[in-house]
Order: sequence, then C-alpha cells, then structure tokens
Amino acid sequence: MYKGKVVLAYSGGLDTSVAIKWLMDQGYDVVTFTADVGQVVDLEACKERALLTGACNAYVMDLKEEFVQDYVWPALKANAMYQGTYPLTSALSRPLISKYLAKIAEIEGAVAVAHGCTGKGQDQVRIEVCTKALKPDLKMMAPVRDWHFSRDEEIDYAKEHGIPITVTKKSPYSIDDNLWGRAIECGPLEDPWTEPPSDAFTLTVDPWKAPDGAEYIEITFEEGIPAALNGEEMDGVSLIAKLNQIAGKYGVGRIDMIEDRLVGFKSREVYECPAPVVLLQAKKALEKMTLSKDVIAAKADLELKYAELAYVGYWFSPLREALDAFFNQVQKVVNGVVRVRLYKGQSVVVGLKSPNSLYAKDLATYSAGDAFDHSSAVGFINIWGLPVVTWKQVHDPKNGGCESEVTLSKETVKSQV
Ligand code: ARG
Repeated sequence: MYKGKVVLAYSGGLDTSVAIKWLMDQGYDVVTFTADVGQVVDLEACKERALLTGACNAYVMDLKEEFVQDYVWPALKANAMYQGTYPLTSALSRPLISKYLAKIAEIEGAVAVAHGCTGKGQDQVRIEVCTKALKPDLKMMAPVRDWHFSRDEEIDYAKEHGIPITVTKKSPYSIDDNLWGRAIECGPLEDPWTEPPSDAFTLTVDPWKAPDGAEYIEITFEEGIPAALNGEEMDGVSLIAKLNQIAGKYGVGRIDMIEDRLVGFKSREVYECPAPVVLLQAKKALEKMTLSKDVIAAKADLELKYAELAYVGYWFSPLREALDAFFNQVQKVVNGVVRVRLYKGQSVVVGLKSPNSLYAKDLATYSAGDAFDHSSAVGFINIWGLPVVTWKQVHDPKNGGCESEVTLSKETVKSQV
C-alpha cells in the first residue's frame, strides 16, 4: 500500500543505500537529502547512487557556509565543548540537517523523514528532536534501528535488490566527519587501554612524524570569531579548512576521551579536530586578556550548559537562544590577534594583542614606568583582611572562642632557626 513520500537523510554509504530500498518496500516513495557540511564524500556519486537505487528525487546541498555561520561560530563564541573536551563536531551538524529535512519534507509534501542512525547513539535523538521541533506532524523513521540486519545480511539484501554499493574491505572504524572535525569510533578503540592506532586518523599526522621545526600562525578574532589567518582575511569555511590542514600537519587536534552518552552508557570516543582545538585554545587566551574576571568566571558554567544543549538535541530550545544572546554580548570585545606555535602534536599560545586589552603594562610592570600606587596597598590590605581578622579574633580561645589553640613545640621553633 502506498504510504506517501519520505525524506531520507542520505550519506551515500551502505546503511542509507539499503534504507532507500527498505523504505520503498514499506510502501514509500523516497526522496534523499545529502548535506555537504565538509565531509569527505563524492557528492555526485552519492546523488547518482541514490537515483539508481530508486530514489524519486535526490537533493545534494552545499550547506558549509550555513553550518559555519549558524552552528559552528555560535558554538565557538560559547567555547562549547561537551564535558569540557569534545568540540561537538557531529552534534552541531544535526540541527542543520534536521532543518533541511523539515524544509524538503514541506517542499515535497512528504509525510515522514528517515535517518540511518542506530538505536545506540545520540544522533537519532538529535535528528528526531530537532526535526520534530520544526515540523511536528512528520513521522520519524529509523530503518537501521528497526531492521535488525547483520552486516552480511545487509550486503545480501543490497545484492538481491540490485543496490549499487561498492563493498570494500570494511574499515573497523565508524566515522562521522565535517569541517569541524572527525569522529572515530568502534574496532580497536572500544578497548580504552588500546592506544588509537595511526590508521584511525586522516586529518592529523602522528606527532612524532610531524616536521622537526615549529610553525607559528596568527589568528585574528573579531567579536570572538576568527576573521583572518596569518593576516589574510578569509571566509569561515576557508579559514577552518586551511587551519585543519596546517594544524593537522603538526599532529595537533587529537582527542581521546571517555564520553557520557545521552543514552546512558560511557563510550570511548576519539576525535581529530585540528582547527577547533586551535581556535578554542586561542580564543580562550584572548578572552583572558579582554574580559573581566567576573565575566570569565560566570560564563564557565554557561559554556558547559551550551555544549550540553547541543549534545542532547536541544539546539532549537529557548535556553540555547538566550545563551546566544549572552555570548554575543560578551564576545563584542573579544578582538585581537593570537599567535600560536605548532610543534609535534602541541599548540601553544605564545603571543596576544588586542585593541580591547585590559592588560595594562604600566600597572603590571616591575620595572621603570610602574604606575601602580604601592602606598594604597596598605589601606587595601587592612580592609580586605578585615573579615578574616575579625573572625579569628572572635574565635580565638584566648578570647573565649572555641577554635583549638596553635601550639609550637620548642623543637619545631629550634628547627626553624
Ligand atoms: N560521540 C559523538 C557525538 O555523539 C560522535 C558520534 C559520531 N558518530 C560516528 N559514527 N563516529 O556527537
């Protein structure tokens, strides 16, 4: 029985290719949608494969610019790193994909959307929550979660149904990549005692194979967003791509963590995110120069909150929007240039300058030109210490207080002199 159209988020891989036929078998016409967010994939071949497999329409859209402007940059402004470590590579692309699933469903008059996520990950949650938030009447379908095929059964199904897949020797890894990095799971990585093998990485070299000399780069930030690399102004997509390449060459950007998944269990996750790691590190250093102490302290919790919202699929939530307003305000003064040294797997901030710098050399210097008023330190210390001095006096046992007395033995005193 014909059930209408479904829009399938299509990566071009085995799972989503099989999903086209599987959905057709269930009575749907399938429209595929492939978002180009900077992943390594042959988009033309992807489109061709979708149509050859039986899709009635195949959308391939270059969304790199929108991904950077509306998802990556807001997350960067918020220094968003899940559990303080993961720059949310995969998580940030899902609301964008969901937005277009909903849009294409509208254009095509589809009744459902489908994705190739399994039942163990968080991408199923993100895509379904985000898509439903934008278009609640759509039915959500997850063929891979439902069909219970083993990989061999899947390949047999593909062969039986004439699905044009090229089954190469299966890589042990499950990969999701885009401009903001690359997530690597499965295979030998499932043992947390096993060091990630070199073949897990494609964006970064092993640090010991990196060039012997260091390279210095300069990143110019405007309102918390990188505007130029080594003095050359660049759009966001080009800047991230270029920085991935430079930092990757020095083996910078590998992340290896035990991550608390939304679906309840801990998982070992490996990432390579050269540009995000360098940009987050550089901007945080610039913030220390341009933001007040209380703003830096207050926003730490909000940064984690922001990352959490992106991670758990709450991108389209009022709290995320409110936090964007906060971070946009805070980042207005995060302007300047950060100099970073790249060397054998490490990036180090070695220079900072900013038109909004709160660092005043004449106050900080210990040399000639010191403008700090040393004499005001005396009065300041009297008042600053008053609460502690008062407390100690009131509680001194000599004054009837209950604190235990400090005694010094003769031996201790002797050994001090
Ligand atoms: N753990 C990360 C996240 O949930 C990455 C998932 C990436 N998926 C993959 N197939 N490697 O955002």
